[in-house]
Amino acid sequence: MIGSRQHKPRVMSGMRPTGRLHLGHLFGVLHQWVEFCESSDAYFEVADLHAYTTGYAHPEQFREAGLEMVIDWLASGVDPARSTFYLQSGVPEISELHTLLSMIVPVSWLERVPTYKGQIEALGSEIATYGFLGYPLLQLCDIAIVRGERVPVGRDQVAHLEFSREVVRRFNFLYGDGNAVLVEPQPTLSEFPEVPGTDGRKMSKSYDNCILIADDEATTSAKVRSMLTDPQKIRRNDPGRPEICPVFAVWKLVAQAAATDAIAAECRSGALGCVADKSALADALNAFLAPIRQRRALYAQDPGAVERVLLEGTERVRELAAQTLRDVKAAMRFR
Ligand code: TRP
Repeated sequence: MIGSRQHKPRVMSGMRPTGRLHLGHLFGVLHQWVEFCESSDAYFEVADLHAYTTGYAHPEQFREAGLEMVIDWLASGVDPARSTFYLQSGVPEISELHTLLSMIVPVSWLERVPTYKGQIEALGSEIATYGFLGYPLLQLCDIAIVRGERVPVGRDQVAHLEFSREVVRRFNFLYGDGNAVLVEPQPTLSEFPEVPGTDGRKMSKSYDNCILIADDEATTSAKVRSMLTDPQKIRRNDPGRPEICPVFAVWKLVAQAAATDAIAAECRSGALGCVADKSALADALNAFLAPIRQRRALYAQDPGAVERVLLEGTERVRELAAQTLRDVKAAMRFR
């Protein structure tokens, strides 16, 4: 119909300020975010308050880490002119909403979220704080304050979304008077192949097996050379099994099917040795990353511009957030 505008779903996602991002982020998350800039009304948050839930004793790194992370978003093509980037702590309405919603959230619901006990077992009881217990509630506030409908997350976050939906239902039941004051957010699972790190395990900062977006070409090539391959392929002529080879998994991310089919065939026949294969992959990967790294270098030279992107987005979110908070307070019979 002429004049009708398609409703674009509101998408919200965020990352804790973890510093420079790796290829797992690029192929798993950031490429999706680039698409969301086109297909939706997208909000991307630097979750710095969440960083304090586990890292409260080391706050000195968060500012820089947030900046490096946003530079990687920008370098990867996530477009702040077609989406909104913002800083969680710059939107105090999120913290106020957190206080308000905390009144109706049973502690048992928070204790039941699997990341709660799991992370305490992994990281130790120093993180067993009130703030860490409230992590999923704070995450809901991130989403609810912008009325996010879809939340692209990994599988590990699905329990947080399920919790969020329960809290929203409880809020609407208690205060909605038949209306949905808060929106039930839906997870959008990112179905992409896991990116293996240099050791064959999932690429992850905690395994120290990452190729970073920010790495230079020589570092990238050295890391590719160090990658694990099929352990049964010892000599060049031994037949290899591409389907279990991490090097081949990375090939599939950067090359077309015709090229990877040929590589797979030569690996299986033994014609292609791992040394030559890795050298070709390093070149292909560096070529793929070159434009991203060029953009990265430009933004890295101008941290002021990156800060401005965050500030402008944060201002926009605050307007939206103030409206949500007014609605929530009115529903709760504050004035
Ligand atoms: N908890 C998320 C993670 O660790 C980060 C995050 C914070 C987030 N707030 C969010 C993700 C809101 C989606 C929506 O990955």
